[in-house]
Amino acid sequence: MDKNYYITTPIYYPSAKPHMGHAYSSIIADFFARFKRMDGYEVHFLTGTDEHGLKIQRAAEKEKIDTLKFCNEISQTFRDLSKTLNLSNTDFIRTTEDRHKKTVQHLWTQLEKNDDIYLSKYSGWYSVSDEAFYNEDEIIENNGTKKATVSGSTVEWIEEESYFFRLSKWQDNLLKYYEENPDFISPKSRKNEVISFVKSGLKDLSISRKSFSWGIKVPNNPDHVIYVWLDALTNYISALNYPNINEKLYKKFWPASVHLIGKDILRFHAVYWPAFLMAAKIPLPHKVYGHGWILSGDEKMSKSKGNILDPLDIIETYGVDPLRYYLIKEVSFGNDGNISKGRLEDCINSDLANNYGNLCQRVTAFAEKNCSSKIPKINKFSNDDLKMLNNFTNNLSTIRNQIDNQNINFYINFIVSALFEANKYFNDQEPWKKKDDQDRLNTIVYTSLEMIRKISFMLYPIIPNSIKKALTIFNIKTEDIDFESIASHDLLKTGNDINKIDILFKKIEKND
Ligand code: ME8
Ligand code: MG
Repeated sequence: MDKNYYITTPIYYPSAKPHMGHAYSSIIADFFARFKRMDGYEVHFLTGTDEHGLKIQRAAEKEKIDTLKFCNEISQTFRDLSKTLNLSNTDFIRTTEDRHKKTVQHLWTQLEKNDDIYLSKYSGWYSVSDEAFYNEDEIIENNGTKKATVSGSTVEWIEEESYFFRLSKWQDNLLKYYEENPDFISPKSRKNEVISFVKSGLKDLSISRKSFSWGIKVPNNPDHVIYVWLDALTNYISALNYPNINEKLYKKFWPASVHLIGKDILRFHAVYWPAFLMAAKIPLPHKVYGHGWILSGDEKMSKSKGNILDPLDIIETYGVDPLRYYLIKEVSFGNDGNISKGRLEDCINSDLANNYGNLCQRVTAFAEKNCSSKIPKINKFSNDDLKMLNNFTNNLSTIRNQIDNQNINFYINFIVSALFEANKYFNDQEPWKKKDDQDRLNTIVYTSLEMIRKISFMLYPIIPNSIKKALTIFNIKTEDIDFESIASHDLLKTGNDINKIDILFKKIEKND
């Protein structure tokens, strides 16, 4: 069986430096990438920046900087953030790169050849902030300015010669595809809005602009630049060297396993992108997952609203793993979520420092004193021991399935309750009272160490740096983490050293 997995984040606009919303999508994608890798998959994980279009051109003009120079600078801050967040991305694409431009122009030529493009005139509402066209019924007027209802961004009237994509022609095929591939649009709760948008009747889509120049030129008509969304979406295949479909990357990784995006850009990914691909006779991605928003108050956090939280500030104060843990655990995946420092601190104190960190410290300190810092010998597992250990064994395939359904909430809850059980077990078994029964004491310690190992493996995709440190207890390298092995109870070898580690998470003093 082919164990290949391709996950993408949106490519972000480098119109301003990244904020928590961008960090969120990237961290979630990294979680899946790391999980799949530890489950034996070869993973391609793509992120990057979306650098063309009027939005970027205007942002650069505002700063009076050359547009490419502006993009270079801000794109670099996204690349830097990917390092700071400890993302395991295998590529970072910029739409201003030649490899990308070539693919976009090729795709255009394909669409033209297949009679999916024609020249006409566009007139209608456009939001530069969203880089999106809106119908009359998608607009509200507020104090004399017209705004897109979905995003609240200002729209302007445009009228110009434009190439069109025959989107209307693909309406039935799209509906059929959604029907036959019920997981294509996920989570389920988002499917209906897309389906009703398509059913309400698709109009042909304007896919070129003539009134500005910051974009990829239309082949054979350099007066036009290609619509930034046709340009941007193509990144998912330009990064695989499309049209070189016989080369390794494309062969292995297309169609993508999942395009992870925010729900704000679902229409582009679940309607336009599959229509472009169908028209170009390219297979469709398996899934588009539109997650919820990080809110600020009750509004979406966004640079245009100016209500942003800088991930770098949080990381400087608390560290990157607490932020990753917090976003994965506390924002119920799929839904919108608020973030607060208070709850982040609670996570650090109760989950990371108390439940996980303390378990590691207590058990290793006890083993140091009572088992000469060596992995002890198992005598015979009791029912209590087996009940806990088997919880992993019995749930291995459930966990895998839940991950394939992007059910992060299940995954994190599983860990939290395993941590609770492991701590409770160590307390209840009272190994400190078993000094006259070294066999039982050894088995309790062994069981506890195995629990630490299993839980650490599960935590690895969430807090990779901390787990790297924690696993030095057993001299296990993160590259050697194998998800399958959480099923076994005897990975730790009797007689091997148990190494002491520094405190993994410092508790935060809280004033309240
Ligand atoms: O839309 N909460 O780029 P963008 C959660 N270039 N996620 C958020 C968020 C929030 N408050 N704010 C942003 C674009 N995001 C296009 C994409 S893809 C071919 C082109 C995340 O810079 C979320 O993933 O506006 C959202 O979809 C994405 O950033 C939008 O980033
Ligand atoms: Mg946006």
